[in-house]
Amino acid sequence: MSNSAEIRINGNSYELPVVVGSEDEVAIDIGSFRTQSGVITLDPGFKNTGSTQSAITFLDGEKGILRYRGYSIEELAENSTFLEVAYLLIYGELPDKETFDQFKKEVSLHTLVNEDIKKILEGFPSAAHPMGVLSSLVTSLTAFYPESLDPNRSKDRVNLSIIRLLAKLPTFAAWSYKNEVGHPVMYPRNDLDYTSNFLYMMFGLPSEKYEVDPVVAKALDQLLILHADHEQNCSTATVRVVGSSQASLFASISAGVNALWGPLHGGANQAVIEMLARIQQDGGDTAKWMAKAKDKDDPFRLMGFGHRVYKNFDPRAKIIKKAADDVLDKLGVNDPILDIAKGLEEVALKDDYFVERKLYPNVDFYSGIIYRALGIPVDMFTVMFALGRLPGWIAQWKEMRENGEPIGRPRQVYTGSKLRQYVPMNKR
Ligand code: SDX
Repeated sequence: MSNSAEIRINGNSYELPVVVGSEDEVAIDIGSFRTQSGVITLDPGFKNTGSTQSAITFLDGEKGILRYRGYSIEELAENSTFLEVAYLLIYGELPDKETFDQFKKEVSLHTLVNEDIKKILEGFPSAAHPMGVLSSLVTSLTAFYPESLDPNRSKDRVNLSIIRLLAKLPTFAAWSYKNEVGHPVMYPRNDLDYTSNFLYMMFGLPSEKYEVDPVVAKALDQLLILHADHEQNCSTATVRVVGSSQASLFASISAGVNALWGPLHGGANQAVIEMLARIQQDGGDTAKWMAKAKDKDDPFRLMGFGHRVYKNFDPRAKIIKKAADDVLDKLGVNDPILDIAKGLEEVALKDDYFVERKLYPNVDFYSGIIYRALGIPVDMFTVMFALGRLPGWIAQWKEMRENGEPIGRPRQVYTGSKLRQYVPMNKR
């Protein structure tokens, strides 16, 4: 492998260093290119541009590989728990029992939130989308913990903010749902594990004893593992760029929540269910909707299909598709839109338009079907994605901070008017 690359432009030749990753990924380091040549590179959407070197998550879009800190998503989904995966992503190693028990205890001691946060929550109309409530409550932590505003404080102080955020996000997520349905909030219970505690706060009511269904808790815990990180996706790149200005962890994560909200990103899981329900109401005519998805003049896209990186199957989609069958079977749920989803996938995988463009089901295509079966309302689906992605965002923010990465500030190519003189209003 050559350790340098050559770019020739305007009759000059420039030599640039080549970076090779631990999985033999190759990149040209263009950091000095503009200084040498006065020329920049252009890549809208950063489809072919690396923003950082990271040791957290590896994915291979061609081979359908996804690993967190070197461990395969298949093994972690099968054997681990979400909180253990959170520890792995954030601190880099699987914890031994003593370390993990201490971590669990620390998280459980911070699940309660300041009572004044209920006043912020009560300010939102019940029609407020839970993602907007969630990002606002995350930002509000900067008011209750002003010392968190400085990300340059000691490792212990920064770690306290990390623990607080991991602990409080499930409370915020459940409370954003309670605000929507007009029910009283439920306070966290430290006798429950991380995911069961969230289900209790979300579905529990003061008037009755709520027992967490272990099937539901296990299914949700696995879904959270599958969403925990995904290298430099849109919302993670947002967290890194916001954090690179030395904005606080809470401000950076709130920005990530808002980036995830978009229907092309984390909002796709809500959009998939809405799309499948629309197809079902329309009589389930899969061919008609496939034609719409392929029609350039039709804005309709097959939500839950396609991916910036996976040009083969999304390994998470394979696991979730199997889990959907298992969970619905265990819960005795017969959801006709699961059949519509499977029908769409079957047709798409044989259709030239989708095959040529390497469009396969992504993580969002089947996840909503499980969330529905677990009784989670559709506009809470992206909140569930945020709950899952939190450890990844935190790990990526922490790595960016510890590596002392520079403030993110892309260049541009200007295409506007050249110099022109101001004309007074009465002469225009
Ligand atoms: C997530 O980055 C991550 O890692 C994200 C994520 C994570 O874990 O963080 O994996 C989570 O966001 C999954 C993606 C969820 N979004 C959707 O399901 C929305 C539907 N999918 C698309 O909008 C699209 O596939 C993207 C946004 C996911 C990817 O877009 P790209 O890489 O920018 O690709 P593109 O839009 O340039 O599409 C390439 C071609 C185009 O056709 P042509 O112009 O070449 O003729 O494929 C077509 C697109 O029109 N296309 C689709 C399509 N997705 C792409 N056509 C119909 N239906 C689709 N879903």
